[in-house]
Amino acid sequence: MAAPGLRPGLLRVTDQAFVTLATNDVYCQGALVLGQSLRNHTTSRKLAVLITPEVSSGMRSVLHSVFDEVTEVDVLDSAGSAHLALMQRPELGITFTKLHCWTLTHYSKCVFMDADTLVLCNVDELFDREEFSAAPDSGWPDCFNSGVFVFRPSLKTYNLLLQFAAEHGSFDGGDQGLLNSFFSNWATADIGKHLPFLYNLSSSAVYTYSPAFNHFGRDAKVVHFLGETKPWNYKYNLQTKRVIQDGTISGSVHQLSFLALWWNIYSASILPLIEKLQKMEESESEEYKHTFNRVEITLKKVSPSVPPLLQVPVLPEQTNEKNPTVCSPEELAFKAQPVCEAELSGSTAHLSEPDRPSEQLVFHPALQETSELDEVARSVSELSICFKPEEPNPEDERRKWEEGRMDYMGKDAFEHIKKKLDAFLH
Ligand code: UDP
Ligand code: GLC
Ligand code: MN
Repeated sequence: MAAPGLRPGLLRVTDQAFVTLATNDVYCQGALVLGQSLRNHTTSRKLAVLITPEVSSGMRSVLHSVFDEVTEVDVLDSAGSAHLALMQRPELGITFTKLHCWTLTHYSKCVFMDADTLVLCNVDELFDREEFSAAPDSGWPDCFNSGVFVFRPSLKTYNLLLQFAAEHGSFDGGDQGLLNSFFSNWATADIGKHLPFLYNLSSSAVYTYSPAFNHFGRDAKVVHFLGETKPWNYKYNLQTKRVIQDGTISGSVHQLSFLALWWNIYSASILPLIEKLQKMEESESEEYKHTFNRVEITLKKVSPSVPPLLQVPVLPEQTNEKNPTVCSPEELAFKAQPVCEAELSGSTAHLSEPDRPSEQLVFHPALQETSELDEVARSVSELSICFKPEEPNPEDERRKWEEGRMDYMGKDAFEHIKKKLDAFLH
């Protein structure tokens, strides 16, 4: 399926790519919105995403519909717990996995972007920069932030980075400390390698730089939802298209306008992809053919085998199907109810009570552990029976069936069919 959002006739630079990383389905949500935002602004470069084994097969299918390349890599973890503790971000040791982007040597030049970034316009001009270009970090401007950087894939550089990591570790426990130490002259050597802050505007920093944001903010090109709180941690009301900030979110507070943009892209472009995948999965039917003597029984089984995360709630008929509402992408809950707010705590979505108390929760039937035959019996949706004629002339038999001239009282009597069916199903 061609990736959506590609303008026909757009000249594409196929040996250059935007690259991001998602080590789990949650960060895949960010990667998908980032990828879609790049397509919405008709980038001429390829889109690549690095994933690790934890990413589900369903999510990989969705990634393939936004990204040109989905590459599985091994997890690299710094295990630099002391430094990560300083940042209160123990989960960031895994960001060493980012270093795999240097192995994408089929590209001459790439721009890495964190999965929690979002482009606000076409930023292909970043490919005019050289390795290693990055924007200053809002926390320590003589360091760069490694959420957006220009680099040239090279196995030599990759191996040097791994060796440096083994010898020196990272002063922040994540990739940023390591990269700043490795590209140690970034602050002083070449101003051309300093990307304007507008290419990596850390959304939460806006809050403390409001006069500058008020003056320059309209020129922002990339917003970065840096910090422990990500867009997918917020509540969002799909009916009113508003992000709800009711103080339940801890940590960094992001600019509402940027959050709304993130959620608008998610709900307009990513959710339909997930639903399309669900429909494709559900339409997939498995056939069971069994032949008893002259009777071939075909059972079509419709198996709702969509992986948990991709089971977008299906609203009960009586609600407004045109404007389905869903819970947040953090962990799409496997419930069907007119959700107006999805509240997140931890990694599961707790759905608020539906506005209309009369509408009951309709849960999808949980898939029980059953034997294959029981499951076939339970989920049989279509049954066809074909009689294998004994005589060498199948045409006569077929014609009899087609003309309704079966031997109802004899060999084609229903009790014979029922006996075969019972034998098959039990
Ligand atoms: N990342 C990931 N899985 C994780 C944590 C991080 O895939 O569990 C990737 C993802 O691309 C993310 C980047 O590493 O954007 C850096 O992490 P994060 O953006 O959370 O750090 P921050 O920018 O908030 O310091
Ligand atoms: C920084 C960067 C992020 C990096 C993390 C860990 O805040 O925003 O890209 O992965 O620190 O080093
Ligand atoms: Mn980030």
